[in-house]
Amino acid sequence: MSDHDQLKLTAMNYAPDRPKADNPVKIEDLSLRDGHQSLFATRGRTEDMIPVAELMDQVGFWAMEVWGGATFDTMHRFLNEDPWERIRTLKRYIKKTPFSMLLRGQNLVGYRNYADDVAEVFVERAAENGMDIFRTFDALNDYRNFETVVPVIKRCGKHFQGCICYSLTEPRLGGEVYNIDYYVSKAKDLQAMGADSVCIKDMAGLIAPYDAYAIVKAIKQVVTVPVHLHSHFTSGMSAMSHLKAIEAGVDIVDTCMSPYAFRTSHPAIEPLVMGLIGTNRDTGFDIRLLARINDILEKQVMPKYRHLLDDTKMSIIDINVLLHQTPGGMLSNLVNQLREMDKLDKIDEVFKELPRVRRELGQVPLVTPTSQIVGIQTVNNVLFDDENERYKMITAQVKDLCYGLYGKTAIPIDPEVQKKALKGYARGEEPITCRPAEVLEPELPKAKKEIGDLAVDTDDLITYALYPVTGKRFLNWKYGKEPVPEEVRPITLEQVHQRQELVKKALAGELVEKPAKEAPEKSASARTFNVFVDGEYFEVGVDEVGGSPVLSYIQQMSMMPTAPMAPMAAVPIAAAPMAAAPKPAPAAPAPRPAPEAKAEASKAAAPAGAVSGTPLTAPMPGMIVSVAKNVGDTVEKGDTVIVLEAMKMENALPAPVSGKIKAINVAQGASVAKGAVLAVIG
Ligand code: CO
Repeated sequence: MSDHDQLKLTAMNYAPDRPKADNPVKIEDLSLRDGHQSLFATRGRTEDMIPVAELMDQVGFWAMEVWGGATFDTMHRFLNEDPWERIRTLKRYIKKTPFSMLLRGQNLVGYRNYADDVAEVFVERAAENGMDIFRTFDALNDYRNFETVVPVIKRCGKHFQGCICYSLTEPRLGGEVYNIDYYVSKAKDLQAMGADSVCIKDMAGLIAPYDAYAIVKAIKQVVTVPVHLHSHFTSGMSAMSHLKAIEAGVDIVDTCMSPYAFRTSHPAIEPLVMGLIGTNRDTGFDIRLLARINDILEKQVMPKYRHLLDDTKMSIIDINVLLHQTPGGMLSNLVNQLREMDKLDKIDEVFKELPRVRRELGQVPLVTPTSQIVGIQTVNNVLFDDENERYKMITAQVKDLCYGLYGKTAIPIDPEVQKKALKGYARGEEPITCRPAEVLEPELPKAKKEIGDLAVDTDDLITYALYPVTGKRFLNWKYGKEPVPEEVRPITLEQVHQRQELVKKALAGELVEKPAKEAPEKSASARTFNVFVDGEYFEVGVDEVGGSPVLSYIQQMSMMPTAPMAPMAAVPIAAAPMAAAPKPAPAAPAPRPAPEAKAEASKAAAPAGAVSGTPLTAPMPGMIVSVAKNVGDTVEKGDTVIVLEAMKMENALPAPVSGKIKAINVAQGASVAKGAVLAVIG
């Protein structure tokens, strides 16, 4: 065959009318959900999906994932978009290809188990709005968390896809827990529950090519329904794993359009299509059509999202996943938490402690939210434990896990850890063994009462029931009761171009800089103040112009009990130049003085002292979730005084000594820095 003939043949093979394969592998496209969730923090807007929607409908995908996971949260919170509306809008453009969503079992599209009444209505409404395939998973692979949603999916005549979260305890498949028998038996359980397909959900990109082959082969032997592989690119193995899974007979694999592919997302569709041409698993897709779609995405859509891409490193794979089996998101959270506490040097200790904590907490798969629960507890152990005592600071979420609120763990939780975690736990010290949602009261009647007429229909009501705070704020925007803030509005391509022009100018040195106003020398009498505004903290330096300061000013702190104050004299503060601009909290501030001490400070013009007693300090920066005690209360050492949220985990801070609460320096909602004195016990 001449070169010329070869070219002609290739051109013909590109065409979708090439001979059909015996057993084409089916493809689910994830670009419009997991793709932008993985790469662009789920910020994709519906208006940016429309330009490619009709073309994507022509490709021949088995399904398109367009909803669920984090989309519901980000849409109403950051994009001012009604999540329900997205399904209906896309359905007008995508008429042939079924829609798929990621359903977090009883967690639905949120981060906790919702009550059964919410779960049932949520699934009904999703089906009614146009959802066809419900990809359902549970972080613990405890399928009791499917028991409420599955009958509703079935009743609505929709496709129930059951997932097995892929997890490892060794570098490769095997070991005591996550071995091939585990996956085979989970697949059988799912089929027995009525799954219309079974999906191996490899959210961290851990599945190695030959393990993918072995698992798919084994599962295909025991189930009759289609087998689906979902594998993230994170570690760089997933394209190889796809190919081996295809050889083993996998029915469906997940890919993204190339601009939405790779990094922590998924393999791209185009190389797979090309790679399979002429084989018995040929997708049959028209590569030129895919190229047209990519062109639109690259030119019209991606420029708006580029700034969200993590471009801090050259490598598009994360070798930590290969070294520590730590999912990407989990690792960045651990690093952030350690950095905030100035303890980044402890990262190796955290990696060492992690497998132990995970084992003690029941060898759970590491997927949201369990990856965060195990990760943050590990950091707490590394930072706060000593040789005499482990698990000194247990997060509320670990307590919930020990209670059984997430479900059954892969192996039993270490009884000593469990007992310690449940000491004084509000729901009871005896863990439950029933389906977790059985202990939850119905939530819809209460939600209905609270939101009232602001929820116009059931979809609004569910939005509120799932996300009470941000959901309500969204409904206020939606119905024009509150102005829509600038930061949730979409940006246009023009704005993007203007920004690019600015950057170009700046790089070329053509931007004229504003002359900076020079800060005067700080005098010896400059004073530094901690200023708290609506829970925000500023450090302000005050230096009076031309003269020694007469301190006569007390900052009123709205979140503190009013202290007796000395009468205010003339307040020169406003006129005083700032030695330093106000800046937000992260810098380590001095502990906040107690209120009584402040009044004294005003007289003495000396730095405020503290109430005498033992301080309870913030072990890490975070937000005050609740204050459990009042001034004057008597506490035993170890009693919870304050609950502090850090990295989305709640930490009950115990009284360091027995005694009386002499001061509480913070209120609910306040952000505190590490080391801040939260309370004083004497
Ligand atoms: Co995924």
